[in-house]
This record gives sequence, C-alpha cells and structure tokens, in this order.
Amino acid sequence: MLKKCLFPAAGYGTRFLPATKAMPKEMLPIVNKPLIQFGVEEAIEAGFTEIGFVSGRGKRAIEDHFDISYELEHQIAGSVKEALLSDVRDMIDKCAFSYTRQAEVKGLGHAILTGETLIGNEPFGVILADDFCDSGVIKQMVGLFSHYQCSIVAIEEVPADQTDKYGIVDGKEIDEGLIKVSNMIEKPAPEDAPTNLAVIGRYILTPDIFSIIRTLEPGAAGEIQITDAICEQAKNSMVLAYKFNGTRFDCGSLKGYVEATNYVYDKYHRKV
Ligand code: UTP
Repeated sequence: MLKKCLFPAAGYGTRFLPATKAMPKEMLPIVNKPLIQFGVEEAIEAGFTEIGFVSGRGKRAIEDHFDISYELEHQIAGSVKEALLSDVRDMIDKCAFSYTRQAEVKGLGHAILTGETLIGNEPFGVILADDFCDSGVIKQMVGLFSHYQCSIVAIEEVPADQTDKYGIVDGKEIDEGLIKVSNMIEKPAPEDAPTNLAVIGRYILTPDIFSIIRTLEPGAAGEIQITDAICEQAKNSMVLAYKFNGTRFDCGSLKGYVEATNYVYDKYHRKV
C-alpha cells in the first residue's frame, strides 16, 4: 500500500560546518555507516520499495552511495571487506532510487512539495535522516496507517524549555500514545507552547498535502513549513500524532550526533 518514501536532504547542514562545506550532512557517518543509509534501511524494513531524495547542489555523494561502484567492488571482491558493502548492494537490488533537486532551500514544506514529482498522487512516507532512530519508527507508523488511512506524525516529549527547536502538537489522546491533532505550531517559545510534544523526522502524509503546501506563505524563519501544512490538513481531516517506541537522536546537532555515534559503537561495534 505505501511504496514510496521521501528523503528531504537539501539543507545546508550549517551546524556541521566546516565538515559540510563540500560533503552532504546526510553522508556524515555514524561509526562507519552514513546517516542516510540508516534512514533508507529503516524505510526498506517498513516495506517501502521506492526511495526518493530531494537533494540539491553539493549532494552528489548521496547518489553515488546508492549506486554500484564497479572498481571498488572489484577491488575488494573475495576479501573480508566485501561484506562491508553487501548491505548497500542489497538495497540497490531491492529498491528503486530517484532524485529531484530543490533549487532553493526554502524550508521542509517546500522540499516536500519539490518531491511531488517523485511521489504523485499516493500516500507516502517521509524520513529526515538527521533524526536517527534505532527502532523502526516508520514501520510502526505504517502499521497505524493501514488502520487509520490518514497523515501521521511521530512525536516525542521534549523538555519544556526546548519547544522552540521543534514543531509542537496539541490535540486529544484517542488511544494510548495516539493523539488526534487539533493544532501544530512551529518552534513556539516555551511560554507559547501548548504542550511539550515535539514532531520528529518521521511522517506519513496523504497526497492532498501538496495542494495545501502550495497555498502557504512562508512561516517561521521565513521558510515554507511542513508544520503549517499539516496543521491546515488537520482542520479538515484526521491527522494523528504518534508517540513512538524507541530511541531517537537529533543528529542535526553536534551533541545528538556524538551521542548517536557512542550508542551505535557500544551496541554494534564494541568488542569487549
Ligand atoms: P534542518 O533545518 O535540520 O537541516 O532541516 P539543515 O538546514 O540542513 O541544518 P542546519 O540548521 O543548517 O544545520 C531538517 C531536514 O530537512 C531538510 C534538511 O536537509 C534536513 O534533512 N531540508 C530542510 C530540505 O531538504 N530543504 C529545506 O529547504 C530545508
């Protein structure tokens, strides 16, 4: 039912300069695997088979990563190192990868609208690879979508003084961990935030979102905000916010990135 997953990846990653001057933020490694590969693995595990990237200038490395590298693969064929590329090779065999470019970085809502050409008129997943999740969050949401057939955003509780870093939702709990959204505000100051329930980078969206985004004026930070579009959508149809199970690291920040790196190293790489 849900085949297509969109990866907005056109942002400049300015918090990681100078590392991101010539390299996409999404290619930053968590130990030895790029952030974007973790995201694509999560999508495939959830059953998505068509992976779309909204990229931009300086993001060529993402395309090269999800492609065969004949010389390199020939060079390591038959050695123990071959296994290090087998996961990404499997992905290339299982999925179709497509790309479009966001010519100007005008906000996440605008990036998602740019992806319309890859999605068409069907519901789709969205993963922001810089939110690193280790527990199949989008798969949990696919399960919910099969029941509710509406847009769903992943949320988590954040400290009350950090609401100004997130889209914040308000609404009524209709089941355990499931909220029917009545309002969403992008980056409210703590005193203006209706809750501390923050949207993180996992969404399932129904395609009417595209026509809603088209009507929007720039919102917070002068950008076209997906938060505003989903808030508008919630006025006319059901939108759910889901308190997912699992751990998430904000790898768009230096602190979250280092924490994710330590977590992955301890969990998968430490020998003693
Ligand atoms: P962020 O604001 O966290 O990413 O956007 P950024 O702008 O790259 O980071 P900083 O603040 O400069 O360090 C969240 C996600 O949305 C994408 C980004 O690539 C990131 O994955 N995005 C954001 C776009 O694709 N286009 C946009 O116009 C804005």
